[in-house]
Order: sequence, then C-alpha cells, then structure tokens
Amino acid sequence: MSIHLQKERVSPVVVEDWEKLAKEVLPKGAYDYVNSGSGGEETLAKNVEEFKKWDLVPRVLVNVEKRNLSIELLNRKLAAPILLAPVGFQTVVHPDGELASARAAAGQSIPFITSTVSSYSLEEISGVMGNTPRYFQLYWPNDDEVASSFVKRAEASGYGAIVVTVDTPLLGWREKDLQNKYFPMMTGAGIANFVSDPVFNQKFNANGTLNKEAVIGEIRKILFKQNLTWEKLAWLRKQTSLPILLKGIMHKDDALQAIANGIDGIVVSNHGGRQLDGVRSSLRALESIADVVNKRIAVLFDGGIRRGPDVLKALALGADGVLLGRPYVYGLAQGEVGVTSVLTNLLDDLDNSLANVGKNSITSINKSIIEKHS
Ligand SMILES: Cc1cc2nc3c(=O)[nH]c(=O)nc-3n(C[C@H](O)[C@H](O)[C@H](O)COP(=O)(O)O)c2cc1C
Repeated sequence: MSIHLQKERVSPVVVEDWEKLAKEVLPKGAYDYVNSGSGGEETLAKNVEEFKKWDLVPRVLVNVEKRNLSIELLNRKLAAPILLAPVGFQTVVHPDGELASARAAAGQSIPFITSTVSSYSLEEISGVMGNTPRYFQLYWPNDDEVASSFVKRAEASGYGAIVVTVDTPLLGWREKDLQNKYFPMMTGAGIANFVSDPVFNQKFNANGTLNKEAVIGEIRKILFKQNLTWEKLAWLRKQTSLPILLKGIMHKDDALQAIANGIDGIVVSNHGGRQLDGVRSSLRALESIADVVNKRIAVLFDGGIRRGPDVLKALALGADGVLLGRPYVYGLAQGEVGVTSVLTNLLDDLDNSLANVGKNSITSINKSIIEKHS
C-alpha cells in the first residue's frame, strides 16, 4: 500500500489503512511499541469494542446547514473537541517526530500535548505551534527540582496547561516490548527534555558531560515517582500558575478527590490499555465520572477514538473533549502529511456525523443522542 496525494484529500481515508502502512514501514520493535497494550491486551481491545455497545439516535428535519465544531476548554476557544494525546518517543516512528505531529496539529488548529519523554525539547515543539494551544504532560520525575524545572520551562515557553499522568507509577507489563527487548529510550529517543534541562544536567549529568548511555541510565533512575500521592499536588500548584489536569482517572472517587484538591480538569483514560491490563474500558468509566463531576471541572477522555461517531459518543456521555492517540501516530509513520490526513479525515467525519445525528453544534451534544443496547 502507498500514500496517494489527491487534490483535496490524502488517502488512505480509512484509519486502519494508516495502521497497515505503519506496519509496513516501521521496524517490528517500534511498531509493536505503538500498537500493543499491556498484558494480554484485554483493555486495549475493550477500549475499542465498548463504542459498539452504544447506538447513536439521530433526529431528522433539523436545520444543520451551519455547523459549529468549536468548544471552550480551560477558558480558551478550541476549533474542535479534539486534542492530540501525549505520545512519547515519536522519533522511533519518524525522524521528524513530535515536530511533525505538532505542526500538523497547529495546521488544523488542534492542540498538541507534549510528552515528558519527547524526542524534541518542549521549547522546540512549542516553537512550531504559533498560536495554537499546547499542553505539557508531566511524568513526575522522582526528583522535585527536575519536576519543577520542567513545569516552569513549559510555562515560560507558552504551554497552556500541565497534564500530570497519574496512572504510571511504573511502566505497565508490556509483554510485546519485553519479548522484543524493546525500550525506545535505549535508541536515544525521548530524552530531549532531560538533556536540555539545566537542573537535570547539573544534578545528574555532570553538567552535560556524561555520554548518552550514562545519561539514559540516569534518566531511567528518576523517570517515574512511585511514592507520588494526592498531598504532593499542593506543592505542584505552587510551582506554576497554569491549570493542572490529571490524566489517567478511572474511578469516580478519584475524580471527586481531584476536585477537592483544586485540580482544573481530568482525563478519563486507561493509557490506551498500556498500563494495568484487565481495567474496564475508558468509555465505560466515562459516564459515572462525568456525572459526579457535573461540569465543575473539565473532563477529557481518551482510549479507542477512531472515527467521528466515536467522538460524538464520548461527548454524549459527558466528555468536554477527546484525545486522539494511536491513529495520529500511525499517520506519523509517513511524516507530517500522514498526521494531517488522519486529522482532517477525523474532523470532516466529525462534522459529517454531527449533521447526520441532527445537531448543528458540538456544545449541544448531550445524552439524548445516545442509547445503550443489550
Ligand atoms: C506509543 C504511545 C506512547 C504513549 N506515550 C505516552 C506518554 O508519554 N505520556 C502519556 O501520558 N501517555 C502516553 N500514551 C497514552 C496516550 O496519551 C493515550 O492515553 C492513549 O494512546 C489513548 O488511546 P488510543 O491510542 O486508543 O487513542 C502513549 C500511547 C502510545 C500509543
């Protein structure tokens, strides 16, 4: 299969075809790293399957001539209810990595969430995005001074929020990566935010003089913080004036605790089925969480979004917006053009689906358009 530039649209159109193309061009280790989930991949499969248990219920004879995909999130207007999820190590997929994805996102006015383990620095990524909003995802390093430095750099370079990933005290049991003996950082990917950090360099990198292998060893020692607890969030609040979101919430009581701790938003997510296997699908978790939050803070969602109707279903169950993960990374295997194509197809599909469900604005989506079947 090959990509084909059409006048108006880059094919393939089908998201699964971008996945096939990625499989063709990527080394097995990199492809499996992106594609796989943890354990027996129960949760990975559930994330996609759960969408099929819900039916959309369209209404007819509604004027849908003018449609509005925009939403407001964290006091900013966004072009559509879609953001690109934080995905680390993107140069294992394409040499342009996060720069290509961020450019493609900005090209469609779609926010990009920069991962802590990016292969380009957070400043370089911010630099290609113009005025389009970007957020910084924090894997809270096991060194508070490095954590603080990352957050302050993000604020200084134009990021609009800090997204703390809270479902990763350590990497999930990723059988395919273990089998392949594949950890992307060992290829040198994903270290840019560390090696460009003055605090990291001073404390762990002998002022920038260690060789790459030794640096990677030091990063791995502090990459995750296994004793991170709710109490620490008050400390983070003091490091930045940016809104703080927690990514990886799967229980309504954790959502309530986030509100009690002054958090500005959550991402209902099981990390795309890459952390604890056997967890329920994120769509299944969404409704009860959105109900208890009751619009008090922003509720984002990810896991299994592949097409326009999936976005509508997540919004109907209470999400304010959704994050797209693997699909854009499959596009990235062909560079920026691939990410752009995946995104424009999803946006056009969403616009089409909105009209066909009988609504003319994203903000008017509610439970009336959805029904669970047995
Ligand atoms: C290859 C890959 C790398 C990821 N890296 C990160 C990361 O660095 N930080 C993070 O919070 N989530 C990470 N995620 C999880 C995504 O942000 C998101 O939760 C997930 O991909 C959504 O599910 P989907 O792939 O079905 O859309 C990663 C996901 C993939 C597929």
